[in-house]
Amino acid sequence: MPIPEPVPLVCRPTPLHPLPRLSRMLGLDLWIKRDDLTGFAFGGNKGRKLEYLIAEALAQGADTVVSCGAAQSNFLRQLGAACAMHGLRCVAVAMHLPYEPGFGQPQRGRLLESCGNILLDRLLGVELRILPDGSWEELFSAAERVADELEERGRRVYRIPVGGSSPLGALAFREAGLEARRQDDGFQAVVFASSSGSTHAGLAHAYAGSRTRVVGISCDPEPDLYDTLEELCAGQDRLLGTSVGLRRTDFELRFEAVGSGYGVAERPALEAILLMARHEGIFLDPVYSGKAFAGLLALAEARDLPQRVLFWHTGGTPTLMAVPDECWEDAGA
Ligand SMILES: Cc1ncc(COP(=O)(O)O)c(C=O)c1O
Repeated sequence: MPIPEPVPLVCRPTPLHPLPRLSRMLGLDLWIKRDDLTGFAFGGNKGRKLEYLIAEALAQGADTVVSCGAAQSNFLRQLGAACAMHGLRCVAVAMHLPYEPGFGQPQRGRLLESCGNILLDRLLGVELRILPDGSWEELFSAAERVADELEERGRRVYRIPVGGSSPLGALAFREAGLEARRQDDGFQAVVFASSSGSTHAGLAHAYAGSRTRVVGISCDPEPDLYDTLEELCAGQDRLLGTSVGLRRTDFELRFEAVGSGYGVAERPALEAILLMARHEGIFLDPVYSGKAFAGLLALAEARDLPQRVLFWHTGGTPTLMAVPDECWEDAGA
């Protein structure tokens, strides 16, 4: 499959700037890449991937897109906006809190169910089909069944995996990495939230062979992610005709900030959000960028970071509005 010509969604380059007060506090030269400011549907890392995915859907003559995720998914919100712009029907199969069976379902910090991205999906006309909570595998199978049913009824369906993590999605993030390198190629580490894998796979590909450490802070307790990262990098090699050949041992993926599981608001992330807001006036989110920043703070405290660090803000701020009040109180806000 050739690489499609992307449809424009994101204003680029997104800003990259220093964080002076946090740098002083942490004893680092800390900078931030603002993919929360893509100018597309409240921002976030998914706009870049959707430029390629929607282009491929249109090239295949699709009239409907089916994807899945947590009900508060940032990906589904941005997908809904991209579909609205291109006259595509957007069907999103979701669970409020999908989980890893081996890890169990988190018991505290559940996000609210009528605001944040769920509200924005409604405004965008996303057909959000919410199922009872279950495992991620159950969610993926349910989405597949919905896509099959729509096809049986004559719709031309384009399927998008969770988080837009196909090789094309990763390729889009490889370009993001190259964009950041053009802005400043002197970082010794890039730190960001990782979940379905294409952000990490794209950045790892973009920085392959350089001296920059690419550190994904996992927001999911999902050990299979190493296989996903390897597959997504192989997929980029296939698309580009390159042979970078990254292997699972080449990826730095840290699980320490996962907490009690995916998708809940917990104290370390909320405290990291407060620290960023109160030092730099920048908002992070409880599920991804807040966790990633909590992970960065833990690495800094353990002296496991080099001096010059880029924190990649991947967006997600609408879910700030879905954090229950008692969680904020508990975190000291
Ligand atoms: C705000 C935010 N940050 C980071 C991620 C993780 O990106 P990826 O799924 O490409 O690993 C997501 C994915 O949903 C996200 O919404």
